[in-house]
Amino acid sequence: MDMIFKPMDESHIDRLLKIEEKCFLGDSWTRLMFESEVKNKISSFIVALSNDEEAILGYCCVWFIADFAEITNIAVSPEFWRQGIGKTILYYIIEKSKKNKCKYINLEVKSTNIAAISLYEKMGFVSVGQRKKYYKDNSDAILMTKDL
Ligand SMILES: CC(C)(COP(=O)(O)OP(=O)(O)OC[C@H]1O[C@@H](n2cnc3c(N)ncnc32)[C@H](O)[C@@H]1OP(=O)(O)O)[C@@H](O)C(=O)NCCC(=O)NCCS
Repeated sequence: MDMIFKPMDESHIDRLLKIEEKCFLGDSWTRLMFESEVKNKISSFIVALSNDEEAILGYCCVWFIADFAEITNIAVSPEFWRQGIGKTILYYIIEKSKKNKCKYINLEVKSTNIAAISLYEKMGFVSVGQRKKYYKDNSDAILMTKDL
């Protein structure tokens, strides 16, 4: 699917909160968290919009820290799951990280999140460790990385 990438701004936040609720249930980011990313100098928060710019298909927040990138949030709006949007967003972030001279990209994912783990493995991320009982529901975090 074709999409347009734009930096996230205040006008997107109401819609992002709705997608976030559906994607992360009780574990979603708050308005304050989205607002603080607009001001955060190390953060690049991009939204993937439909061609007419009406719908937010998905989004990703990445922090550029020294020589690596850290994905802090990524989601696709449920109406658009399984259409290759997650892959396209990640590909965009990987290319952006290469342009920013990052050597690798890190992320954390719930060990129970089969869809996301499968997506990351397809995009070349490998598991490098875990944090036991890291999330509110006591599930473990898997640490994944991709060399660039
Ligand atoms: C994970 C997520 C971003 C995937 O987005 P998506 O646009 O549906 O993913 P894509 O269509 O690009 O799929 C790419 C690959 O991911 C995997 N995948 C996606 N959804 C899956 C599912 N429900 N079950 C198993 N694998 C899945 C598959 O390997 C898929 O490749 P395939 O279509 O060739 O089989 C999306 O499910 C989502 O937003 N989930 C809720 C938020 C979330 O969990 N974010 C990650 C936090 S770490």
